Amino acid sequence: MAEEIIGLDIGTSSLKAVAVKATSKSFAVRNISIATNPIGRVLSDSPAEQDKLVAQIKTLIKNLQPVSNKIRVGLAENQVFTRVISVPVLSEAELSTAIRWEAEQHIPVPISEVQLDYTVLSRPAKGVKEGSMEVLLVAAKQETVNRLADMMSLAGMEVVGIEPGLLASSRYFSGSDGSPLLLANIGATTSDFAIISENRLNLTYSVPMAGVALTRAIESNLGLEVLQAEEYKRAYGIDPRLMEGKVRNALMPVFSAIMSEAKKAINAFESTKRSKKVQRVVLSGGSALMPGISTETANQLGVSEVILINPFQGLELSIGLKIPAEAAVYSVAIGLAMGV
Ligand SMILES: Nc1ncnc2c1ncn2[C@@H]1O[C@H](COP(=O)(O)OP(=O)(O)OP(=O)(O)O)[C@@H](O)[C@H]1O
Ligand SMILES: [Mg+2]
Repeated sequence: MAEEIIGLDIGTSSLKAVAVKATSKSFAVRNISIATNPIGRVLSDSPAEQDKLVAQIKTLIKNLQPVSNKIRVGLAENQVFTRVISVPVLSEAELSTAIRWEAEQHIPVPISEVQLDYTVLSRPAKGVKEGSMEVLLVAAKQETVNRLADMMSLAGMEVVGIEPGLLASSRYFSGSDGSPLLLANIGATTSDFAIISENRLNLTYSVPMAGVALTRAIESNLGLEVLQAEEYKRAYGIDPRLMEGKVRNALMPVFSAIMSEAKKAINAFESTKRSKKVQRVVLSGGSALMPGISTETANQLGVSEVILINPFQGLELSIGLKIPAEAAVYSVAIGLAMGV
């Protein structure tokens, strides 16, 4: 019987945790839990702040009524370098020695300071020596990884995996038809974009602009206090039919700026794979719940299909556990817990 794993996504606005176990056919979600991030960041240099965050993580995990202390934790995209690189055909053993040198060409920080991880995405058929293989490189500063691991042990947990949130979320698409899609996780302070093609991560891109900037746009354009601005954003969003489009108008400059960054990810992908077009967008993260976002995303990105992720789809749920209205915020946490 597989052991239960906790997936933890430490967002700057909210902490999400899930308890998940592999089953013979899929995965079973036993419990989920969400709490606000009391310090508004993932790592802090202030010990007092860090203690506050650890205390909140402990409460969050306690709410799951955990049966194991094994945890897989997400890294924010701005804490990692994710690249798909092309390398000559090498055996596993050759690659494991060559990878640091290869990584040095692609990763903008000294290799001695990073923890490096890689996965071979594709290689020519056995026996073929020509051509190249595609390798997914993921590097995070050793210091960041250590600090996260320390935080988890303070919370009484044993870390069995640390990986970027987009990589974790890309697991949902492993069984789809392979056509390229843009996964956009629009959170509180960052919007993260991934192109997933042939069922695997192809490219990632991240910008420091998301829900907080959207709320701020309402505050300044409509002269509202932050709490009311937040309410307006959630109630009316960018739906032109609501509030005579006034909230929409306040939000549009920021929303369009986020979309133009999403477009850059699509363009970067399409310029390297000329025959492939991104026709599908999957939205996730809290800001993806904003009214009117799907229609506007389809318009601005020129895609035919925009869907809101439901990370619980296809998973078994414990008796009594209901899929929450804000299901889309759990995508990273569930993806993490589904990793091996
Ligand atoms: N119904 C809604 N409509 C619009 N925005 C929403 C809604 N619900 C939540 N949000 C926004 O979603 C954001 C929180 O989402 P999420 O939990 O994905 O962020 P996070 O992971 O904490 O942040 P980050 O990934 O940027 O560090 C907040 O900015 C919040 O205002
Ligand atoms: Mg997030």
